[in-house]
Amino acid sequence: MISIVYESKTGHTKKYAQLLSKKLHLPIYSLKEAETKLNQNDKIVFLSWICAGKIKEKNNADKKYNIICYGAVGAYPYSDKYLAELKQANQIKTPLFYLRGGLDYSKLNFFQKILVKIVGITMKNKDENTKEMFKKGKNFVSLNNLEEIIKFMQIKHI
Ligand SMILES: Cc1cc2nc3c(=O)[nH]c(=O)nc-3n(C[C@H](O)[C@H](O)[C@H](O)COP(=O)(O)O)c2cc1C
Repeated sequence: MISIVYESKTGHTKKYAQLLSKKLHLPIYSLKEAETKLNQNDKIVFLSWICAGKIKEKNNADKKYNIICYGAVGAYPYSDKYLAELKQANQIKTPLFYLRGGLDYSKLNFFQKILVKIVGITMKNKDENTKEMFKKGKNFVSLNNLEEIIKFMQIKHI
């Protein structure tokens, strides 16, 4: 049985994991819960958030489980270029899906807020949604964004 395992700081990744679990009828665990629920090398879909270009806890999850595909949740808008950069920076060979999460300033500490604000100021060519997100926070989580990963799982794995 394949499980959905996630790592989330402010809730966007957890929401995607819940939506995916419901849609595919697969059990869902946080990475911490998985420690007691899953065995070494069990098959999982691993969803986690992006911090400074890196998928959080990826190395940890890689060591423990057999990862069928990854879902990386970030604040930036989707682009093929960004997906390719993520693949390279995180040394991913299995399929990787980008899921736009958002920003929730209320759940970030002082330094994280400053860091994210600086990224927002220095980022070029921002669309209106992205400008608004950096200004006051925004949530882009939607079932539609899971379309590709759902298709992949339905065709290949369940
Ligand atoms: C310190 C910090 C660094 C971040 N770096 C990136 C990044 O490199 N790329 C990106 O797309 N989003 C970045 N984000 C945004 C998060 O990935 C985004 O808020 C995501 O939705 C968080 O998921 P969560 O709610 O499950 O924790 C960063 C956020 C923080 C706080």
